[in-house]
Amino acid sequence: MNAPQTIYLKDYAPPTWLVDTVDLDIAINDGFALVSARLAMRRNPDAAAGALLLDGEDLHLESIRIDGRPLGADEYAYSGDKLTITSVPDDFVLETVVRIEPDKNTQLSGLYRSKDGYFTQCEAQGFRRITFYPDRPDVMARFTCTLHADKSRFPVLLSNGNPVAQGDEDGGRHWAKWQDPFAKPAYLFACVAAKLEVVEDTYVTTSGRRVRCAVYVEPGKLDQCAHALAALKLSMKWDEDVFGLEMDLEHYMIVAVGDFNMGAMENKGLNIFNTKFVLARPDTATDTDYQNIDRVVAHEYFHNWTGNRVTCRDWFQLSLKEGLTVFRDQNFGMDVHSAGVTRIQEVRTLRAAQYPEDAGPMAHPIRPASYAEINNFYTATVYEKGAEVIRMIHTLIGKDAFRKGMDLYFARHDGQAVTCEDFVAAMQDASGLNLDQFQRWYNQAGTPKLIVRSSYDAAGKRYTLDVEQQYPATPYEERMTAEGNGIARGPYYMPLVLGLLDAKGNELPLRLAGEERVQGTQCTLSIRKDKQRFVFADVDAEPVPSLLRGFSAPVVLDYPYSNDELTHLMAFDSDAVNRWEAAQRLATGILLKGIAAPSVPADTWIPESYVEAMRRLLASAFTADGDPALVAEALVLPAETYLAEQMEVVEPDAIHLARLALRQHLAQALREPLLKAYHDLKVDRPYSPDSEQAGKRALRNVCLSYLAELGDEASHALVLAHYEQAANMTDTMAALAALANLDVPARHSVLDAFYARWKGEALVVDKWLQVQSTSRLPNTGSDVRALMAHEAFDIRNPNKVYALVRAFCAANPKHFHAADGSGYKLAADVILQLDPLNPQVASRIARTFDRWKKFDPARQAKAREQLERIKAQVGLSSDVAEVVGKALD
Ligand code: TRP
Ligand code: ZN
Repeated sequence: MNAPQTIYLKDYAPPTWLVDTVDLDIAINDGFALVSARLAMRRNPDAAAGALLLDGEDLHLESIRIDGRPLGADEYAYSGDKLTITSVPDDFVLETVVRIEPDKNTQLSGLYRSKDGYFTQCEAQGFRRITFYPDRPDVMARFTCTLHADKSRFPVLLSNGNPVAQGDEDGGRHWAKWQDPFAKPAYLFACVAAKLEVVEDTYVTTSGRRVRCAVYVEPGKLDQCAHALAALKLSMKWDEDVFGLEMDLEHYMIVAVGDFNMGAMENKGLNIFNTKFVLARPDTATDTDYQNIDRVVAHEYFHNWTGNRVTCRDWFQLSLKEGLTVFRDQNFGMDVHSAGVTRIQEVRTLRAAQYPEDAGPMAHPIRPASYAEINNFYTATVYEKGAEVIRMIHTLIGKDAFRKGMDLYFARHDGQAVTCEDFVAAMQDASGLNLDQFQRWYNQAGTPKLIVRSSYDAAGKRYTLDVEQQYPATPYEERMTAEGNGIARGPYYMPLVLGLLDAKGNELPLRLAGEERVQGTQCTLSIRKDKQRFVFADVDAEPVPSLLRGFSAPVVLDYPYSNDELTHLMAFDSDAVNRWEAAQRLATGILLKGIAAPSVPADTWIPESYVEAMRRLLASAFTADGDPALVAEALVLPAETYLAEQMEVVEPDAIHLARLALRQHLAQALREPLLKAYHDLKVDRPYSPDSEQAGKRALRNVCLSYLAELGDEASHALVLAHYEQAANMTDTMAALAALANLDVPARHSVLDAFYARWKGEALVVDKWLQVQSTSRLPNTGSDVRALMAHEAFDIRNPNKVYALVRAFCAANPKHFHAADGSGYKLAADVILQLDPLNPQVASRIARTFDRWKKFDPARQAKAREQLERIKAQVGLSSDVAEVVGKALD
């Protein structure tokens, strides 16, 4: 009953019918909207013959004409979300009028109602919920859109492109007509009819085009728009400087909406954003929020070229635009903030979110070969691993060839809907490097393991690295094979960037036999085979290898580092990522010992040398070239979910206790330097989200979070004083997060006061919910249940669900995996309640069950019970059915 239909990449066929122009007329009324569409269509000369099939979902057809002639009831059929017209000329105009109900659209796909008006979301398949259309990205058409609505309630009427006309109508209504000069797929269509306020600015492109940049927000929020607007102009400049890409429209609009399933959407000239990635004021947004705004604004802006001007042939190619655009926004982040810290944060998210995905039931390559529900494939794999794959091309061919490859890609494909192969071909042709083998990254799922072993020949002064890659099949490949669509797996082509350090911490000049790229003290090894050997000559003493610098490939690196070697790298490696990584490896090794010996006192498994290394790390922030932001990253212990992935059978309680014990041990041992750092790092200047100030705040707040572990009066007083003296939301949240973990009387009064102060600011209320749902205190599960009944919660608002429920499931493993199964039950209750309202969001919650088979049999039984319960639900969406079905397989 719930078996969703699988769609295969190999079944791709070009569209039978093309659309040249679309004229939409959308009249918004109370309780319904009338959508009249006029499509100029013609037979695709490059496709097989066939009837006219249009997509349409939840549409009520009022009238249908071809070339002005109304169709008889026997000339068309609408069922199963398809409108079929059996007989049409080769070239014709189709006119339809449909009635839709945006006020009842809780899925937030298509045209829907939010607090201040009406908004659209058409990616991936939302346009079919607005009108009948061949809703696939390889059908590109020129759009005009006329909107009609009540003038006083919905004074702002927007669509893609340029405003061409407007006027008033009877009954206090008005209309506006917009025209987009660029042909585009329907998923990039957008319109807005709402009561909004706007801030505007002008950007002049290198070639002299004046672009009006505008940010639209709900009334009263104009003082929270400045950062997003500045980020937009910075992004425009960056894309010109780095890739020579200019804005191509006169209007670039960002509209913020509080009800939105994802982060933001790159609709041509009319981006629609989750308010979370627009609104910021020092007292409402944290440094991280500010940085996320930069990145999301840049991401959506960069899509104008990588996604819109050149789009995807089909949804299997999603990573063509997403992986590349994430790669671009990452590099923007590295340029405008700290390169090292930005990269470290990237690596952390990749390993926290993408590696488990690649090891679980939903594993898929960055270009999947099949899917049941496309909305389930907006994943960490397609986005983050997709960006890593682009980064590897960049590393392998170098920056200049990469730029040439981008130029060639646009020269060849501007205005087209293309495939991932087309992108790789442009890179290959521009660089002259054969990338055939590299294509495996697009077809194989799973995180490869890179096993490196070293040996040193003192007599011959030779240092040898033996590199082996392993890439066992995932459930994805097993499924494909079972269906007869198996692929022959083989070794990946990837760059292994490395350096060698001597005993004093100096970088050795490298001399390597063969054709590898060597740049002084750093080289890029080309890994292509299952096993390879690399020999370095003239090495005077056995070095410490710094492997996979900059995280040069998305692999699990297996090298038997000793704790001394890791401490050495932590102190001396010139590569920021590897200094951080050494600290993570060191802590991971120690924690895994502590996890395996839960009843043994912590000081027996925590080596003194580790504490000293952390002491030196903290001190290094205060040296001339010290970077507090980087030190803050390295001081943070690996997350519980990361540690879980390193275990055969996950023991969530032992992980939690060991990590907590190590934090408490460090806090005791380093109390003095932590306190001193806490006081020395205080920023006295007026708030700015710049990386220097943010770095100091980050380290200071990490110190605070350690000091809060001391559990004495003085540390509680410190947390409370931090809360009271906080002059910005970054500091406020640092204190509140610490307090939320403390069982002290002030916890309740502060949480209550915080809510009373901020209950009118939705995004701040989300923080309030999340800080409680991620608390380690014993009652958190029941607190989350209670908060679901609180006036602050609304199951129809994705941000609220993500803050309260998803954060609980994904970022509070101790409670989500409670031995009594209460966490699983809570998740399942929410999924079942949410699925009929918003399957996309329900499905994202369902994904938190992904790793259930890694737990002990008792927990597995509890998780299975809930998964079976969800699966048995009548009328389950294809979104949740796919996720739960694959989890249970
Ligand atoms: N293309 C958007 C982005 O990454 C993603 C997106 C926004 C989306 N809203 C969505 C995807 C709704 C699926 C459904 O920039
Ligand atoms: Zn994107």
